[in-house]
Amino acid sequence: MIIYECEDYRAMSRRAANIISAQVILKPTSVLGLATGSSPISTYGLLADWVARKDLSFAQVKTINLDEYKGLSPEHDQSYRYFMNKNFFNRIDIDMKNTHVPSGLATDLEAECRSYDALIEGLGGIDLQLLGLGRNGHIGFNEPADTFTLGTHVVDLTESTIEANKRFFASEDDVPRQAITMGVKHIMQAHRIVVIASGLSKADAVAAAFGGCLDPHVPASILQVHPNCILCADKEALSKLPDRSAVITV
Ligand code: F6R
Repeated sequence: MIIYECEDYRAMSRRAANIISAQVILKPTSVLGLATGSSPISTYGLLADWVARKDLSFAQVKTINLDEYKGLSPEHDQSYRYFMNKNFFNRIDIDMKNTHVPSGLATDLEAECRSYDALIEGLGGIDLQLLGLGRNGHIGFNEPADTFTLGTHVVDLTESTIEANKRFFASEDDVPRQAITMGVKHIMQAHRIVVIASGLSKADAVAAAFGGCLDPHVPASILQVHPNCILCADKEALSKLPDRSAVITV
């Protein structure tokens, strides 16, 4: 595990964007696993700027997103498909048919989960997975639980996640209570994982995930045993990490 301590959100975003761009330059046909939320917005912005400058191309890249809210259409401005199109896909040279987000409108959610797993496997797995970190230690929408769930699944969002995400909706009542999320198996099978975390609100989650025991009640803790996981975090997010021996200040 490599932990980069970056000065602030901007520096964290640049570090993550650099790692992703290196991945795409070295393997233009990469399969990228992608996340939504506040954390990756600047990372996507930088990558889009580099595409605009013709320094980078996603023309042959395929993407697979972690999750989607149940019941939100791709046109809903809080759906993760809408987020990805707005913040990334519409700003780069990717072929839209190579971008994948679970369908929140599927009538048979179980079938949607199985076909999403088959899709990931059909793509040959994920070369690089980008992850944000929930304040409760979730990755994707793999919420704290007694066991890790391996495959794509439907999840009941926890009160903590509903509370954290209500800022994006008109009211707390509008936050969907369920979502579809990629499971821990395909995340852990990614060849490389880049986790981004910024701000004091993530400090407890970072400390629990990367400074504590492996525990399904802190889903991100499983990343400690991934052979090629990089945490890009800012000073505030790392401020409660008990053991700084793996920290590289950049
Ligand atoms: C979103 C996702 C979530 C977020 C996490 C952090 O696709 O997978 O796990 O990464 O909730 O969200 P932000 O970045 O908004 O703090």
